Amino acid sequence: MKKVFISPSILSADFCHLLDDIKKIENGGATHLHFDVMDGQFVKNISFGIPVLKSINGHYNLINDVHLMIINPKEYILEFIKSGADILTIHYEALKDFDEFLEIYNIIKENNKQIGLSIKPATKVSDIEKYLPYLDLVLVMSVEPGFGGQKFIEGSLDKIKELDSKKGGRNHYVIEVDGGINKETSLQCIEAGVDILVAGSFVFKANDINKAIEDLKHGF
Ligand code: DX5
Ligand code: ZN
Repeated sequence: MKKVFISPSILSADFCHLLDDIKKIENGGATHLHFDVMDGQFVKNISFGIPVLKSINGHYNLINDVHLMIINPKEYILEFIKSGADILTIHYEALKDFDEFLEIYNIIKENNKQIGLSIKPATKVSDIEKYLPYLDLVLVMSVEPGFGGQKFIEGSLDKIKELDSKKGGRNHYVIEVDGGINKETSLQCIEAGVDILVAGSFVFKANDINKAIEDLKHGF
């Protein structure tokens, strides 16, 4: 039976009680903590960064799933690794070229961490074909990056199916989807082949966080 993992996005958490909210998702069955870094350049929003990750890291037993929505990831990768990042996901659209990707790849691998590549809704799977063998994770953005609480973009399901069909051989990545994930869209994504579901508002705005996380898993 396929297993799906839940990575709640703390962008939607209550920052006055951040560690309490993190404990709730940990007790509720999440395995990852989705950490949305926004620089106000790559996306028109500014969220949080290294001081926050440094302060929360070590206080919970979740995989730090760091989503870097920043224009110059190479400059900050090492700092995020030192601050506790386990998975570092950069945006294809923020890369200068494949050589820059390889530089970032080498830094991450030299530090025994996992590398993810995220594609915005307008980016096609075929655009990242040559990156796939290097990836531990592919993050399909099912909303325009920058804000929580947006509506799921249906076309994302075709990308998940396409990535699922390309798994195997040198391609060992897991598929993660991020944006507008709720009880309905999570099932569609699981059926399309997703491995990790990111959800912010559906989890943290729920009256019952445990139930919200269970609902996203659909028994998988
Ligand atoms: C958006 C972020 C997402 C967002 C998800 O740029 O990358 O992780 O926080 O929020 P929801 O689940 O509310 O769409
Ligand atoms: Zn994200």
